[in-house]
Amino acid sequence: MGKDKDLNLFKLNEVILPKEECKKRAYFESYEELYRQSLEDKEGFWAKIASELHWFRKWDKVLEWKYPYAKWFVGGKTNLCYNCLDRNLEKGLRNKVALLYVNEREEERKITYGELYEHVGRFAQALRDLGVEKGDRVLIYMPNTPEAVIAMLACARIGAIHSVVFAGFSRDALKTRIEDAKPKVVITATHTIRRGKEIDLLNTARSAVEDYPFVKYLVVWNRKGNVELKENERGFYQLIKEQNRIAPAEVLDSEDPLFILYTSGTTGKPKGILHSVGGYMVGTYITTKWNFNVDTQNDVYWCTADVGWITGHSYIVYGPLLNGMTTILYEGAPNYPDPGIWWRLVQRYRVNIFYTAPTAIRMFMRYGEEYPKKYDLSSLKVLGSVGEPINPEAWEWYYRIIGGERCPIVDTWWQTETGMHILLTWAHTKAKPGYAGRPFFTVEVDVVDKNGNSLPPNHVGLLVIKAPWPSMLRNVWGNPERYEKYWNIVPGYYCPEDLASKDEEGFITILGRTDDVLNVAGHRIGTAEVESAIIEHPSVVESAVIGKPDDIKGQRIKAFVVLKLGVKPSGELKEEIRKTVREVLGPIAVPDEIEFVEKLPKTRSGKIMRRLLRAKELGMEVGDLSTLED
Ligand code: PRX
Repeated sequence: MGKDKDLNLFKLNEVILPKEECKKRAYFESYEELYRQSLEDKEGFWAKIASELHWFRKWDKVLEWKYPYAKWFVGGKTNLCYNCLDRNLEKGLRNKVALLYVNEREEERKITYGELYEHVGRFAQALRDLGVEKGDRVLIYMPNTPEAVIAMLACARIGAIHSVVFAGFSRDALKTRIEDAKPKVVITATHTIRRGKEIDLLNTARSAVEDYPFVKYLVVWNRKGNVELKENERGFYQLIKEQNRIAPAEVLDSEDPLFILYTSGTTGKPKGILHSVGGYMVGTYITTKWNFNVDTQNDVYWCTADVGWITGHSYIVYGPLLNGMTTILYEGAPNYPDPGIWWRLVQRYRVNIFYTAPTAIRMFMRYGEEYPKKYDLSSLKVLGSVGEPINPEAWEWYYRIIGGERCPIVDTWWQTETGMHILLTWAHTKAKPGYAGRPFFTVEVDVVDKNGNSLPPNHVGLLVIKAPWPSMLRNVWGNPERYEKYWNIVPGYYCPEDLASKDEEGFITILGRTDDVLNVAGHRIGTAEVESAIIEHPSVVESAVIGKPDDIKGQRIKAFVVLKLGVKPSGELKEEIRKTVREVLGPIAVPDEIEFVEKLPKTRSGKIMRRLLRAKELGMEVGDLSTLED
């Protein structure tokens, strides 16, 4: 273990008390000082934080780094679910609301820590009784509701590896993930609610599991109450009701796997990002507590993400529950039944911390100020942003109209792979719209060239993280080469494949991806995935997908499509292709624009030159192109 020096860092909790006025620039220097100190004793820093949580057995060593594989809190034994529930009951939070569920119909449910413990404990035991053992995978295809959280925590309790698949994904996307993770049990619901409609999940899940005999059971949350279950299906609440035992929290190794979450990369096959128990727990715990200035006892916290994404995992579920907070789960569209719904809920629940994506802000900007102005938003203290760069216009609007010029905007740059916030605009440091900010304590971030040389200020290069951090991915499920690639693009460093530049004060701005991954409304979508969905249409020979700038979504999807000989291009055909993508991949991946072309530009080796298409589409000079193709 590192030196146990009493870093001033730990005064940060006092420094950032939310009662303090938010915009105090006086703390600017202190961030630098605290950050510098954290670098002097990184292991000591993390040991101190880890010791705020419960360990059945303390670690022998904070970090073991055998490039590119890291182990954190080596030899430590713990359980993430225990830390989220049992530990909070011991602290007297039994009757505190843990989950505050509300949907677009404004139906609400409040679940206390005590109730959550009961449900999770019984559901965990039920999973055990279905034969789920430590290390088995459980796939969760659920709406953004407490049932999804119960399923996740139950897996964490017994050491099963959960893999949540966003309910907005359709059949093929679900099948790809099932095929890769090989879950013993799939948990789903009859439907999810969005835009006044019930969107089916059960039939999608049923057809997705059909071909996979390794899936022993489909557990169904029967929200309609009248669905007849098949032989290999079990009712979610039936299992809980019939269970009279609470599964004890399994004593897990710090490095035991916790979950797999699939994310898009360059190839059509998504990567199963693997996180482990101890490091992920410590990282999400402290970044939730500090980065949003949370008064964990009193604040009401709302992260508008979905549990199907990493933001939901880390900052709706694990981070807030580890801190004994009240966390809001919202099911539905952000602008349905009207664009005032979110602000009405902020007013009703007196939300203090609000964390959303720039794409939502830009959408609300378009509806105009009158919607937020109808409601009392004075409870808000901190506003978070995640998923894509927040452009200065959106920043300004968020700050002025939502935050009433009172609340700092905490931009947070991170990834499925990083597990926790890496860069942020610290609440009490000076604001710099357009920047993702500066690193979390101990994390060394830089902008470098291909060989890893640090670039001077204001030069565009590759973002890198120079050393391991606790909640980093541990592997790519079943594909260690793909894991090692993250550390080989720039040898020695972790490369997230984002372009960035750093200014004189060390603030980093993010300029986009270096790979064929799009960021559409904050969702990470691989061009290859969309292309393979498009060619499922019987009239299509091949296609190429690019991203185009979009005022609201950040990027929009444009598809160039080559049709089979003799097939006539038409508007109806475009609609059919869209429908195909919606069915196989999901609504988030549907192309906004489709153009029929005779052929696609390719390299001599037959690779589609998406960059050429992009350059042409955006009207870039041919001169630019030659360098792009270099
Ligand atoms: O390109 C960056 C962008 O989203 C990518 C990570 O996507 P995902 O793994 O789906 O996680 C999204 C939520 C953490 C990054 O490589 N990104 C994420 N946050 C920001 C961002 N780009 C700019 N600013 C951000 N705050």
